[in-house]
Amino acid sequence: MRTRLRGGLFGKYVGTFVGFAVFVLLVNGVLEMAFTYRETTAAVVKAESEKAEAAAARIAQQIAEIERQIAWTTRASAGVEQRRNDYMLLLQQVPAIDELMQIDGNGKELLRVSRFTVEAIAGTDYAQDPRFLQALARQVWIGPVYFRNEVDPYISIAMAHSGQYAGVTVAEVDLRFLRDLVAPFAIGDQGYAYVLGAKGRLLAGSDLLKAPRGSDLGGLPQVVEVTADVADQPAGDRSALAAFGRDLGDRSVLAAAVAVPRTDWLVFVEQPLAEAFKPFYVLLLRIGGLILLCIALAVLAGVLLARRMVVPIRALAAGVGKFGAGEFGHRIEVRTGDEIEALADEFNRMAAQLDQSYARLEQTVEERTRQLAERGRQLQIANEHKSQFFANMSHELRTPLNAVLGYAELLVDGLYGEMPQKAVDVLERVQANGRHLLGLINDVLDLSKIEAGQLALVLDAYSMRGVVEQVVASTESLARAKGLALTTQIADDLPIGHGDERRLTQVFLNIVGNAIKFTERGSVDIRVGASSDAFEVAVRDTGPGIAPEDRQRIFDEFQQVDNSNTRQKGGTGLGLAIARRLVEMHGGVIRLESEVGIGSAFTIVLPVRATGPGAPGAAGVAS
Ligand SMILES: Nc1ncnc2c1ncn2[C@@H]1O[C@H](COP(=O)(O)OP(=O)(O)OP(=O)(O)O)[C@@H](O)[C@H]1O
Ligand SMILES: [Mg+2]
Repeated sequence: MRTRLRGGLFGKYVGTFVGFAVFVLLVNGVLEMAFTYRETTAAVVKAESEKAEAAAARIAQQIAEIERQIAWTTRASAGVEQRRNDYMLLLQQVPAIDELMQIDGNGKELLRVSRFTVEAIAGTDYAQDPRFLQALARQVWIGPVYFRNEVDPYISIAMAHSGQYAGVTVAEVDLRFLRDLVAPFAIGDQGYAYVLGAKGRLLAGSDLLKAPRGSDLGGLPQVVEVTADVADQPAGDRSALAAFGRDLGDRSVLAAAVAVPRTDWLVFVEQPLAEAFKPFYVLLLRIGGLILLCIALAVLAGVLLARRMVVPIRALAAGVGKFGAGEFGHRIEVRTGDEIEALADEFNRMAAQLDQSYARLEQTVEERTRQLAERGRQLQIANEHKSQFFANMSHELRTPLNAVLGYAELLVDGLYGEMPQKAVDVLERVQANGRHLLGLINDVLDLSKIEAGQLALVLDAYSMRGVVEQVVASTESLARAKGLALTTQIADDLPIGHGDERRLTQVFLNIVGNAIKFTERGSVDIRVGASSDAFEVAVRDTGPGIAPEDRQRIFDEFQQVDNSNTRQKGGTGLGLAIARRLVEMHGGVIRLESEVGIGSAFTIVLPVRATGPGAPGAAGVAS
C-alpha cells in the first residue's frame, strides 16, 4: 500500500523558493513605493506653492500699483474741476477702476466720475460710511469684496487727502483683472489656479476650474482644511499650505494655497492626482510588472530545481516499492550524478543480492520438499508393509492358537480320559494365558486392519440400550467381585442407532472394563442420553484418576499410565487406541475429564447415524 503524502517535496520546494523571492521583492517594492510617494507629493506641493506664492505676489503688486495711481490724484491740491479732470485721466489710465468719488471733510459727496454713467452729484452724506471713516482713520483702506450682478467682484479703495480740500477719494475697483493674474500660474496640463475671497467665494480662476465667478467653493475639502490652517497661522506668516481634496468634478486633487498680503484672499494652485502622480503611477506599474515577472521566474526556477530533486526521488520510491512487491529484477534508473544516484545504485545492489538469496532459498526449499515427499512416500509404504505383515501374522497366529485352546478344552472336559487335578489346574492356566494371547492378537489384528484401511464397519440398525445392557451383563460379575457398585441410567426415549453394533460393544467393553479394572472402591456409573442427532455415553468411576500429562497419551498404542498399579492390572495399552479409532470411524469423539485421586469420566459422543470414517481431525479425542 502506498502511503498518502501530506504535501509532496515538490510543492514544498517550489513554495519555499517562490515564497522567498516574492517576500524580498514585495518588501523592496513597498519601500520604494513609499519613498517615491513621499518624494512625489513633496515635489508637487513645492511646485504648486511656488506658483501660488508668485500669483499672490502679482496680485499684491497690482493692488499696490492701483493705490499708487489713486494716490497721484490725491496729491494735487486742486479745485473740483481740476480733480474731475484728474479722475477722468485716472479712469483712462487704470482700466480696473470703474468709478471715482470725492467726499469732503464732512462726509458729503463732492464729485463722482464713472466709466459708464454720467453721474448727477447727489450730495449724499457718507459721514457714517466705513469707506469715509476707515480712510480717515488709516489713510488708505481696502474694503471687503462685494459683488455686482452677483458675479462681478469689486473692492473699494478709499484714500484720505489733506490740505485745502481735505476729504476722501473712493475708487471702486473691478476685480476681473485678477483672472489674468492667476491664470498663468496654472500647473501642468490639467492643473489650475484660482483666488477665493472671504467665505470661499470665487473671485477669479483659470478656465479649467469650470466655475463662474462668485461661486461658493467654501465646501471643498481642501478649502475647508486650508482656511482652518490659515486661521491657525501666526500673524505675519504667509507660507504656503498644502492639502489633499476634491475638485468640482469630484476628482482627487493636491492643492497648495497662499494668502494674498493685505487681504483675506487665498490663491489656490491645484492639480488632479491623476496628473500630478503620473510618474508615481508609472513607477507603480513598473514595480508591479517587475514583481510579477520575478514571481514567474521564481516559479519557473523553483519548478525546474524541484523537478531535478523530486523526480529521481519519486523514481527511487517507485523502485523500492517494486522491490517490496518482490520484483527484484527491477532496476532503478536515476542519472543525477549525485547522492540520489548513489542511493539508487545501493538499492539496486541490495535488490540483486536479495534476488540471489531468494533464488537460492527457493531452490533449497524445493529440494527439501522433494526429499520430504520422497521420505513420506517411503514411510507410507513401510507402514503399509508393517500393517500388512501384522495382519497376516495375527491371522497366522490365531489359527494354531485356536487349535491349542480347543485341545486344552477337550482335555479339561475329560474327552481324553480323567485328568489328575494338578494337570487340570495347569491346563486351565494354559487356557487363561491362551485366551489372553488371543485377545492380544485380536487387538493387534484390529489395529493393523484399521491402519491398513482394511477394517470395514458393518453398519446396521442397533439399540444403544441393548449395547449398554450387554456390556453391563458381561462386566457386572467383575464389579461385584471387587465390591464396586455398577449403576446405569439410560434415557427412555433413545433413538434407534445406525452403526456397527459389535465394534461399539467392543469400545464400551474396554472403557467400562478399564473403569472397573482401575477402581479399587466406590462405584462405576454409566449414563446414556441422546440429543436429536447424537448419543452421549458417560462412564464415571471413583478410581485413581489420570494426570493431565497422560490424558492424550493413553489413547496411543501401547501407552499406559506409568505406575505400579497399572502394571499390576495387566493389559497391553491397546484398548483405548482401538476404541478411539472405532469411535472416529463412526464420526464421534471421546472426551476425557479426570481428577487425580478422585476419579475419571470418559464421555463418548456418537452420531445416531454413523457418518462413516471421518476426515482426519474432524473427530477425535477431546480432553
Ligand atoms: N478408568 C481409568 N482409570 C485410571 N486409569 C485408566 C482408566 N482407563 C484407562 N486408564 C489408563 O490408561 C491406560 C490405557 O488404557 P487401555 O485400555 O488402552 O489399556 P489397558 O487397559 O492397560 O490394556 P488393554 O485394554 O489393551 O487390555 C491404562 O493402562 C491405564 O493406565
Ligand atoms: Mg483397557
